[in-house]
Amino acid sequence: MANCHVVNALSKLIFVNTNTPGGSAPPGTGLHAGHVLETPGIYTASGLANGMNDLTPMVSRASNGVSGDVRVPGDKSISHRALLIGASAVGETEIAGLLEAGDIMATAAALRALGIEIERAGGDAAADPVWRVRGRGVGGLAEPETVLDLGNSGTGARLLMGLLASHPFASVLTGDASLRERPMARVMEPLGRMGAEFTARGGGGGRLPVTVHGTDMLRPVTETLAVASAQVKSAILFAALNTQGRTSVVEPNPSRDHTELLLRHFGADVSVRDESGGARRISVAGYPELAGAKVTVPGDFSSAAFPLVAALLVPGSNLRLRRVGLNPLRSGLLQTLEEMGARIEIHDLRDQGGETFADLQVEHGPLKGVTVPAGRAPSMIDEYPILGVAAACAAGVTHFDGIGELRVKESDRLAAMAQGLEAAGIEVEEGDDSLTIHGAGGAPKGGATIASRLDHRIAMSFLVLGAASKAPITIDDGATIATSFPEFIDMMNRLGANMETSMETDGARP
Ligand code: S3P
Repeated sequence: MANCHVVNALSKLIFVNTNTPGGSAPPGTGLHAGHVLETPGIYTASGLANGMNDLTPMVSRASNGVSGDVRVPGDKSISHRALLIGASAVGETEIAGLLEAGDIMATAAALRALGIEIERAGGDAAADPVWRVRGRGVGGLAEPETVLDLGNSGTGARLLMGLLASHPFASVLTGDASLRERPMARVMEPLGRMGAEFTARGGGGGRLPVTVHGTDMLRPVTETLAVASAQVKSAILFAALNTQGRTSVVEPNPSRDHTELLLRHFGADVSVRDESGGARRISVAGYPELAGAKVTVPGDFSSAAFPLVAALLVPGSNLRLRRVGLNPLRSGLLQTLEEMGARIEIHDLRDQGGETFADLQVEHGPLKGVTVPAGRAPSMIDEYPILGVAAACAAGVTHFDGIGELRVKESDRLAAMAQGLEAAGIEVEEGDDSLTIHGAGGAPKGGATIASRLDHRIAMSFLVLGAASKAPITIDDGATIATSFPEFIDMMNRLGANMETSMETDGARP
């Protein structure tokens, strides 16, 4: 990685965030410790469908600097996988650094409904908790008595569908209003070719609620994916665990490989081979003897991206982010920011359980517009919204290509970025799968109210834009931030941001 100055220690330590999500919730989200730790999916489908979840408008005003020394919450992708693979292993799995946020609690609740014991050692008060999962072995899930509500989480829903496909019972999955609009056919089709059956709402796209009619007689297949998707790849690999023989997935470009790394860590036979044209073939042997293991989850790079970009954009900032996961298939944003001229240093790069961790040192400085190639999209797919904010403040034009997948995330992120940036005074051109942003070359006008569309990353991105803009940015709802980063507002304010709950939304709605 370019611009990588590895040093051992940093003399200026301002504070380390030891605040646990179980201990306090971000002011203004309306959440408390009990919500985060106990509620099976903060966003229950029923709550949103019936309009029971009140909107939580938030406002972000110009900041004088985003500085300090913090640890961001655990990686969401790895946390889902640690719970799901732990449930499929024999014996106890101990997970340190698990993300304690709505999406992960929804996956934990679904696994409990499938007969898996999961507990937080030390109770809600523990500062550095360990989560224990008592696995029942491959194929060991029990038929659920209730509907499984995955809340806002596409990863939770799709990965669990893979696991359930190879269990001989029916289970019903649902989610919140955002998740119920997301396409599930992309996992149902390959799992169907393996022998599972599904009943879904919503025609061709296959929308939740979905009933999975699983079987323990799945066939091993070789699936060639049209689009690089770690969720689809992982759903197939999870189904393959309880399937005789070897199942393979060929992806057109490498997508995040947390499933492969963690399955190996638990003892599975996983092979990975590069193929022509940048494709990659991953195969897993059925019926592995997965043994309970210890897992340390790094900080989530996708969450770190918000304070990181805030520090780049707000004059006077100097920020240290600790123990951030830097899996090379996840960190395309760093390469892009460095091409934009960002001042980011990587310190103390280290490996643990196959994953790479590092500390990041970030300083404010001018950014310039760049073209981000389509091939980089899989390695930074969740970072486009916050990169769009960086581009809005950069000098010159930034162009994103090959980002059609953004239209089927927690919201249509391409449209959300285009409309939100335009409202904040930035000139943009929205294509079917591209976006061009004409940067302000400094602080944008701001002064807009943005619909966050039940999308945590849209909400956080525009709050960061508010910190760097001349006039405040309001978002109509910040409660959804708790799906991935419950302490976001609290942490950002301690670093010098000005974010709070607001009563005025100017009538914006998703
Ligand atoms: C994820 C994969 C990505 C990403 C999502 C998390 C995962 O989705 O956008 O937030 O944990 O596997 P796709 O696989 O659909 O690209």
